Amino acid sequence: MLKTHSCGELTAEEADKDVVLTGWVDSLRVQGKIAFLILRDREGITQCFLNPNLTNEFKDLSKESVVLVAGKVKNRPENQIRRELTTGEIELGVDKIEILSRAETPLPIEIEEETTTHLDKRLDFRFLDVRRNRIKSIFKVRAKIYQYSVEFFTQEGFINIQTPKLTQSGVESGAEEFKLDYFGKPASLSQSPQVYKQMMVASGLEKVFEIGPVFRAEKSHTTRHLTEFTGVDFEMGFVKDEHDVMDVVEKYIKFVLEKVKRECKEELKMLDIKLKVPKEIPRLEMSEVKKLLAEKGKEIPADDDLDPEGEKMISKIVEEKYGSELLFVINFPWSVRPFYHMRPKGIVTGTKSFDLIYRGVELSTGAQREHRLEMLDKQAKEKGINLKEMTFYRDIFRFGCPPHGGAGLGLDRITEQLLGLKNIREAILLPRDVERLTP
Ligand code: 4AD
Ligand code: MG
Repeated sequence: MLKTHSCGELTAEEADKDVVLTGWVDSLRVQGKIAFLILRDREGITQCFLNPNLTNEFKDLSKESVVLVAGKVKNRPENQIRRELTTGEIELGVDKIEILSRAETPLPIEIEEETTTHLDKRLDFRFLDVRRNRIKSIFKVRAKIYQYSVEFFTQEGFINIQTPKLTQSGVESGAEEFKLDYFGKPASLSQSPQVYKQMMVASGLEKVFEIGPVFRAEKSHTTRHLTEFTGVDFEMGFVKDEHDVMDVVEKYIKFVLEKVKRECKEELKMLDIKLKVPKEIPRLEMSEVKKLLAEKGKEIPADDDLDPEGEKMISKIVEEKYGSELLFVINFPWSVRPFYHMRPKGIVTGTKSFDLIYRGVELSTGAQREHRLEMLDKQAKEKGINLKEMTFYRDIFRFGCPPHGGAGLGLDRITEQLLGLKNIREAILLPRDVERLTP
């Protein structure tokens, strides 16, 4: 390695040691013959002062240039310790600087912790935007959420699978497909691992999960939709009903919240987030939700879905009533659910399905699936879907398929809501949406 230490690492214990640090020039301040350089890397910042014979040569060193500095660690006099610097008790007396890469000026975006640069512009130069500690924190937490997700499902006995993203056609009615040409045959990018996760329950793996890319040609310009996102999907066999599935979703989201709260303290502090982990997540019938909304003056017809405003309102109502920022809405109308959701016995207008809503935004949709082939054929027909064309989906139910259910969550949405970000694009490094295909 070029360096002996990282910037955040040095303390008074290293006093008088010769060290080499590398990083970005956060700032350079020249005071007469002395220049103060704040060097920044992933771990923190270190204040350096240049030996007077270097000052002239490096006084014009541009901000964000990448440098290597070598010198001696010095204890800082008590009265000069700047508490806001993580390495406040030491500084580095630099007697050698090597410019590894000089940054052009001016920078295309501001790299200040508090910036007024518009999100679009920041995303155009995302790699510069991520140089801000606040933004780094978001992606450190996101990485943890991913890690906890693998940990949770693995410890619950789910098998981690990877399914094709090049597919023939999707089953998510309503979710638009990205069409492509597959050696002359029509194909599309996977809009959900739905088919394959059900297939793998039937395969005898029984309980499976996948964390992977999901593609939706959504033409919507909202703060919660991307055209490519990371899905956290699971599916499990031998469920009694949709409540078994909700139990897993509930345990999972509490596990993630609890772990982030406990293990990402520094990042949460930087982002000014206080996390609440609910004891129990209320499960409200859709009819009850609509009644509560109607009381507040928002009427939604019985066979309609909740709209974003409705989701926000019901979240508030539930928080006031039950003290939970999360809620399940259960028993969605058949008219707004895909053909593969099971309907309650004898009720053709309902489904054994649910959504999980967190601070006003949908995090998850799940259901018990219809595993009885005649019923599935009937339901597909009602939705105008020709299942005979999806032979391999139909086959899943022909040779012994357990009653099963599952759910899908969005990693980007979890990150967005958990960290109180105002836009899902803040929660993903390089967002894809209707307008954006670069960088
Ligand atoms: O609600 P969705 O469309 O449900 C399914 O995909 C089903 N196959 C799940 C199931 O097992 N029944 O997507 C699941 C979750 C949503 O709740 C949301 O968190 C996220 O995926 N999601 C999106 N995230 C970002 N951008 C988009 N365009 C999203 N669409 C869905
Ligand atoms: Mg949904």
